[in-house]
Amino acid sequence: MASFIFSLLPPFFFIIFLIYKTCNGQKTGTKIPSGQMGFPWIGETIGFYRAQRKNQLFESFFQPRIKKHGKIFKTKLMGSPTVVVNGATANKFFMSNEFKLVVSSWPTSSVELMGKNCIMEKQGDSHRCLRGVIASILGPTGLQTMVPRMCRSVQKHLVENWENRGEISLHRSTKTLTFTIVLECLFGISVDLDTMFGVFENVLEGVLAAPVNLPGTKFSSAKKARAKIQNVLVDEVRRKKEAMEGGREEEDGMLLSSLVAALIRGEITEDEVVDNIVLLVFAAHDTTSYAITMMFKMLANHPDCYTLLLKEHEDIAVTKRPGEDLTLEDVKKIEYTWQVARETMRLCPPIFGSFRKAIAEIEFEGFTIPKGWKVLWTTYGTHYDEEYFPDPMSFNPSRFADPVQAYAFIPFGGGPRLCAGYQLAKLIILVFTHYVVTRYDWSLVDPDEPVVMDPLPFPSKGMPIKISPKHNY
Ligand code: HEM
Repeated sequence: MASFIFSLLPPFFFIIFLIYKTCNGQKTGTKIPSGQMGFPWIGETIGFYRAQRKNQLFESFFQPRIKKHGKIFKTKLMGSPTVVVNGATANKFFMSNEFKLVVSSWPTSSVELMGKNCIMEKQGDSHRCLRGVIASILGPTGLQTMVPRMCRSVQKHLVENWENRGEISLHRSTKTLTFTIVLECLFGISVDLDTMFGVFENVLEGVLAAPVNLPGTKFSSAKKARAKIQNVLVDEVRRKKEAMEGGREEEDGMLLSSLVAALIRGEITEDEVVDNIVLLVFAAHDTTSYAITMMFKMLANHPDCYTLLLKEHEDIAVTKRPGEDLTLEDVKKIEYTWQVARETMRLCPPIFGSFRKAIAEIEFEGFTIPKGWKVLWTTYGTHYDEEYFPDPMSFNPSRFADPVQAYAFIPFGGGPRLCAGYQLAKLIILVFTHYVVTRYDWSLVDPDEPVVMDPLPFPSKGMPIKISPKHNY
């Protein structure tokens, strides 16, 4: 009897093994990346969120797992089995296989609040169509006409918010400025900053919250704020459409009129126009403002770099008559500042990475990623790797004087979903820096101010700086 029971054990354990593999989405003969799936359903989400809040995703979450399991490892986040990928080869593979092997995958709350018709939810032809409209305004001709508008916006902002003040919050200042630039200079929409800025901020607070629409939750107040924005924008879009159809207004080089022209031609819907205005405001303002804020922090901590940067702007300023705006040609000469900005975004990326969903079973570097699993690419895993950036934790802008390996520097992503506002972000960073450093002396109030994340990174006290106008200004 005992020998009969023992003879049943090997097939019994084999069946258990097969069930285990199937539950983990793994077929026999395939090699899923190693890693821990954590607790049932929530997996390792708590550890991930805890690290994110402290802005320690790399140190506390990614780095220990890379050390233990390698650059490609599995985990479970927000209920989904997820493979985290790091390194230029993996970035290139997953970013350039968008729509073929993977599609971008955002949490339910983000999709509900940005709108189901925004570009990040689009695929294939409808994605190409929307990108085409956006790119027509954010391409070289669009940017050329945008420079003088942006110069005026930045100067107006400094006069209204910096003049006669001894101290300001740099983060708040850059947030309201980029918000205004995107709505006024990119879309051509005038807004009442005092009311609309706060409403947009309310929406952002719910973007990564649990999608629970009950009174008092972050998500529910974000939904209410989103409805307010919807009403304002629908009115604006309809007014523009009527004016363009009636021949009273025409395409004016602003994104709102290009989107409405595409609406009139029947290429996109009214919801698509509205959702993409909302998405672009979000995509632009927290990312760009954080990049500028951290750049000033880096400059404060590296006076040699600041001396070089200041000289670059003073050399341009002396070629200008009083009151004369910068041109795109002037901006193209601002090379060192862009090295400083890129080195800042390498160390302090405004977006830590992005999720994809496998739409087919994927084979990559000997691993199998089952269909339906999530893939998370991260900026840190490549930006902090000495294979691509020697002495990775040191701040050294001149490393960007030479070209960097493709897909190693990815603050703006890559492939078909490469940031559509990359050139606009560059323009805002360079123009703002020009007017600030040529007109103001400044210093950090708290050089050790911590950075936290919720859901994007920001300086916990808003990065106050002391300011005084320069004598020659
Ligand atoms: C420093 C500033 C910025 C950073 C670091 C940044 C970063 C990124 C990243 C990483 C992505 C790719 C996300 C993914 O792969 O899932 C992205 C996409 C996008 N960004 Fe930016 N961004 C910045 C500024 C802007 C600005 C100023 C705009 C426009 C006004 C903009 C518009 C977009 C849009 C529309 C997409 C979606 C592209 C698509 O799905 O085809 N971004 N951005």
